[in-house]
Amino acid sequence: MAFDLVFFGGTGDLTWRKLMPALFQAFRHGKLPPDGRILAVARQPQSDDNYREWLKGRFQEVEGAKRPTDEEFARFAALVHYRAMDLSDPAHYARLKEWLTERDAAVVVMYLATDPDLFPKICAELGAAGLNGPETRVVLEKPLGRDLASAQEINRVVRSVFREEQAFRIDHYLGKPSVQNLMALRFGNALFEPLWRRECIANIEITLAESIGVGTRGSFYSATGALRDMIQNHALQLLTMVAMEPPSRNEADAIRDEKLKVLRSLKRFTPESVARDVVRGQYRGAPGGNGNSPAFLEEANVPPGSRTETFVALRTEVLNWRWAGVPFYLRTGKRLAARDAQIVVNFRPAPHSIFPGPNQPNKLVINLQPEDGLELHLLAAKGNSQGEALSPVSLDLDFDKAFAENRVGAYERLLLDVIAGRLNLFVRSDEQEEAWRWVEPILETWRDDSTPPRPYSAGTWGPAAASALVARDGYAWPEEQ
Ligand code: BG6
Repeated sequence: MAFDLVFFGGTGDLTWRKLMPALFQAFRHGKLPPDGRILAVARQPQSDDNYREWLKGRFQEVEGAKRPTDEEFARFAALVHYRAMDLSDPAHYARLKEWLTERDAAVVVMYLATDPDLFPKICAELGAAGLNGPETRVVLEKPLGRDLASAQEINRVVRSVFREEQAFRIDHYLGKPSVQNLMALRFGNALFEPLWRRECIANIEITLAESIGVGTRGSFYSATGALRDMIQNHALQLLTMVAMEPPSRNEADAIRDEKLKVLRSLKRFTPESVARDVVRGQYRGAPGGNGNSPAFLEEANVPPGSRTETFVALRTEVLNWRWAGVPFYLRTGKRLAARDAQIVVNFRPAPHSIFPGPNQPNKLVINLQPEDGLELHLLAAKGNSQGEALSPVSLDLDFDKAFAENRVGAYERLLLDVIAGRLNLFVRSDEQEEAWRWVEPILETWRDDSTPPRPYSAGTWGPAAASALVARDGYAWPEEQ
């Protein structure tokens, strides 16, 4: 199936860091449909060959095993082309159209990897140039807007040009293999479903921790913050996957309808509950202040005195029959103790213990990264003495080991899904707007609050208030259990 894939923002970070390497992996794995062309567009004029050379240089920065050999790169680069484009000039869209109609590919993907402020303009120009036929798919990268109104405006323009089925809103967390496994665990196995409810589950903790700081993205990040960057999208999407009812079919709208219901059932924040249930923090330098780990306020392009949060922890509830009263704790942050993304389902303790020692509740841990796997924590008897206290043991599944050959990275998976037209792992406009609607009271409360975020030292798990938030309910974060 012939396809043309156009990257707007062809020289940007996202393109060379994530998208091109992911496409290369798909190519290397033989998964990229044959007869594809990849067209990078950006402002500065340069030839195809120059662009390919530049890309080759960038690939040197890609993780070792994923780097192409010279021979592989040469074969991949033959698919890659470059055009200079001024995205505000209609004549340049007409030229793009000429390039695309040279061969009328069955699928045309317009991947908007630019500043989101440009999305409405690019979509409107694509529409005006007639580049919105049924064979076209438009991919929108996050952040989609900075609040409900701006997200609605982007969606309005996108909708005026494309049908909803043509719009692929990326949340790359949905492409992570462990998230596929969460679906498989819940809806491909009957074992957990009877337990997946308030009667058996005490609380759910979702952690998306990063050890890196904001690096070169100081200017973007200080205008964005952790709530918009990670919670509104990635963390909420994971929450919906954990909490949703079983969809009736493995089809995009059946899944997205269920996720939307969860978002609509989330407890609404008020200024009082924001003050009580949401903790925001900002990292200081590492203890001892070594130059490798500057404070957020010392990072390049962060305005002096910025009150942007680099850490958020919050408590919410899903107000429906399955989940009423079960706290969902979400937390994310930069410069935390580890790069660690996981969902922990903490079960209730055994109702009556006949063994000595602590009656430690079972928990199921879904590890997204750095490892991709499942752990089921149980109590077991070692069998070495009568009346012994039980010992914690865990059943561990390492999916990277179990399925080594077939693992595909998040962007690889999502790019292949766009080309194949599979929408299951993409966010529908109503879901995205509902997530903004839920986040807005937090943003508004913070805007009106002059207290700065709580400081935390780089390399820790965030401000102590995050532990207190969970401790108030009698629980603890996984590293404290
Ligand atoms: C992006 C955020 O969406 O996700 C980044 O903008 C963050 O700030 C990144 O670093 C984390 O993704 P991953 O896949 O490395 O956990």
